[in-house]
Amino acid sequence: MKRFLLSFIAIVTIGSLGQLRAQNIIIPVETAETALVLQADKDKNLSIIYFDKKLANKNEYEQVAAVYKQTGDYTQVLNAAYTGSGSRNLAEPAITVTHADGNNSLDLRYVNHKVTRESDGVSLLTVLLKDPVYNFEVTLFYKSYFKQDVIEQWSGIKHNEKGNVTLHKYASANLHLKGKGFWLNQYFGDWAKEMQAEETKITHGIKTLDSKLGTRANLFQPSVFMVSLNKPASEDEGTVLYGALEYSGNFRTDLELDFQDNLRIISGINNYASPYTLKAGEEFITPMFLYLLSHKGKGEASRKMHDWARNYKVLDGKGQRLTLLNNWEATYFDFNEDKLKALLKDTRKLGVDLFLLDDGWFANKYPRNGDVAGLGDWQVNKTKLPNGIATLVEEAQNNQVKFGIWIEPEMVNPKSELYEKHPDWVIKQPKREEHYFRNQLVLDLANPKVQDFVFNVVDELFTQNPKLAYIKWDCNAVIYNAYSSYLKNQSHFYIEYMRGLYNVLQKIRNKYPTVPMMLCSGGGGRVDYAALQYFTEFWPSDNTDPLERIFMQWEYSYFYPAITSANHVTDWGKQPIKYRTDVAMMGKLGFDIVVSHLSEKDLAYCQNAIKEYNGFKDIIWQGNQYRLANPKEGSVASMAYINEAKSKGIIFNYLVNNRYGEGSVYPVKLKGLDAKASYRLKEICLYPGNNSPIDAGKTYSGEFLMTVGFNPQVNSGRTSVVLQLEKAGN
Ligand code: GLA
Repeated sequence: MKRFLLSFIAIVTIGSLGQLRAQNIIIPVETAETALVLQADKDKNLSIIYFDKKLANKNEYEQVAAVYKQTGDYTQVLNAAYTGSGSRNLAEPAITVTHADGNNSLDLRYVNHKVTRESDGVSLLTVLLKDPVYNFEVTLFYKSYFKQDVIEQWSGIKHNEKGNVTLHKYASANLHLKGKGFWLNQYFGDWAKEMQAEETKITHGIKTLDSKLGTRANLFQPSVFMVSLNKPASEDEGTVLYGALEYSGNFRTDLELDFQDNLRIISGINNYASPYTLKAGEEFITPMFLYLLSHKGKGEASRKMHDWARNYKVLDGKGQRLTLLNNWEATYFDFNEDKLKALLKDTRKLGVDLFLLDDGWFANKYPRNGDVAGLGDWQVNKTKLPNGIATLVEEAQNNQVKFGIWIEPEMVNPKSELYEKHPDWVIKQPKREEHYFRNQLVLDLANPKVQDFVFNVVDELFTQNPKLAYIKWDCNAVIYNAYSSYLKNQSHFYIEYMRGLYNVLQKIRNKYPTVPMMLCSGGGGRVDYAALQYFTEFWPSDNTDPLERIFMQWEYSYFYPAITSANHVTDWGKQPIKYRTDVAMMGKLGFDIVVSHLSEKDLAYCQNAIKEYNGFKDIIWQGNQYRLANPKEGSVASMAYINEAKSKGIIFNYLVNNRYGEGSVYPVKLKGLDAKASYRLKEICLYPGNNSPIDAGKTYSGEFLMTVGFNPQVNSGRTSVVLQLEKAGN
């Protein structure tokens, strides 16, 4: 049958169904390299007919289906753009509902679509789907970022039925991919073991990645993942899809290899214990599912992700960050004003920008002298700090450094005045015994009064101390015994908790738009791109052993740019100070050590490293990141950051295997240079008294460095080598 093709590039709205009967409507979402193509057929089924490399001729997308000779689809909805349930569908749905009349069927048909240009390179496609039988509709949103090949997809669900509708499942997005096999790269973790990667071939059936922890949902499983198509992608080769739900609460991503051997991906809020009662006229907006398809391997995908994140998502992604000294591991809870004043002097001596006062500064009736009491009582502890925070902020100023403070405002210890006054503000089952995570419970952010309380914790700190320059926002417990004494409908609990959290964060950002805040969670249990709209950086893990961090930061770096990674030098691990500092420099540098315990040479090393870091941090934060040598594959790990102009770079090299004779036997091949230009490589951040064997006067062509490579001369006597690359000529 002859088909007519319509392609909509500009702002187009297709109106009535009748007008276009018997025509296929093709809706391509094109970015620089890729195309996600939707099609509404003559029956108005909206399906995904292509998601791959962009074709020069848009008319050809419609020919794709015919060249595949897979088995038939009995349902016509296996590749649905948003799969309903209870009608023809036999696969995992994106949405499941019970209508006001008790009927469970949903069949969504295309009504119209429009494309609007949001800003340079950013477009928004909205597609309206309606059920022909019920007064029920879903709007699909596809926000595409042309240069970075990123798409954010979400849905708006609405109805006008006579009564409430129950949403049993309400995914953000539904994808459909064709490939000769799929490989899933996913992550698992625990405290101090975040971001552990595993890669497996996807077999038929459903693989689910999810969280049911309520808050700090990433502790055991983050929502970020990669799927390689046709073969496992490597750093620089292969087709790979990056996916992540922009949500800090319970998520669920189903990857279903269907009977036709295609991969269906459905991602959204986890519907676990969360059927949602949707009133007539109310719109349920899902969080965004973020994805990016690259045909040049995991490395290119990560650089595009970084570019997107810095430009469009992370708070102040193109801005500056503060280096700092944190007192947590230096003092734990054991400090007083004098001790802190001495640390403020050390902050100056070290040469960092800010002093960060960690846990233990608050609560009086039940003082916060350990992790068993005080959370919730955010008044300065009078015994430890009789003159309050203001004196410390002033003292910081006298030392020409800034002052930041730790809070964990969503939490409460049963031993606290807050718990005594407001037991109904706490998440707990009224008739069951309490169960604690780090001796604490989570406050019920579904309750607007609790939202106000949390906002006020931050607001009061800033109003009382206008010079306060930084917040470390912690979140150390998961949600047990999920129950809100505020909510009437407990199955809305997990959703309302997150809405409450985002309300508070938005209110804070309305009043304090730029003050840097670290997203911390007893390690890396929380980072995601919804949260990073409110935070400037995150804490990847409490595990700061630099050897572990090389691996962990490597994995995080696929999804999050270095500017967001708060890396602190601590006493974890057995590595010398240089190694520890160099690893922490691959991100946003901080220290959590007793400066006065450092030997003269170690201190001199740190002071110099901070100065050097200040000179090249812009390349780490805003440059392109290249993974050169994978610590999982050899004895040397190597990571490079190259500026946009390809004229400057920093390359970190580490020994990750202490066996006899291990080191950089082979050269490390550089990436991202100008092949025709010539470059010099100089070793920097040398430990006092050490000379470099690397001849900084030699020049090499970009071609040589990328084809043959360069030897950083890593060995047991030189376990960490930082190289500075500079263009010497064209
Ligand atoms: C968490 C954080 C640490 C520190 C402590 C304080 O574990 O990850 O960095 O702030 O809380 O109790």
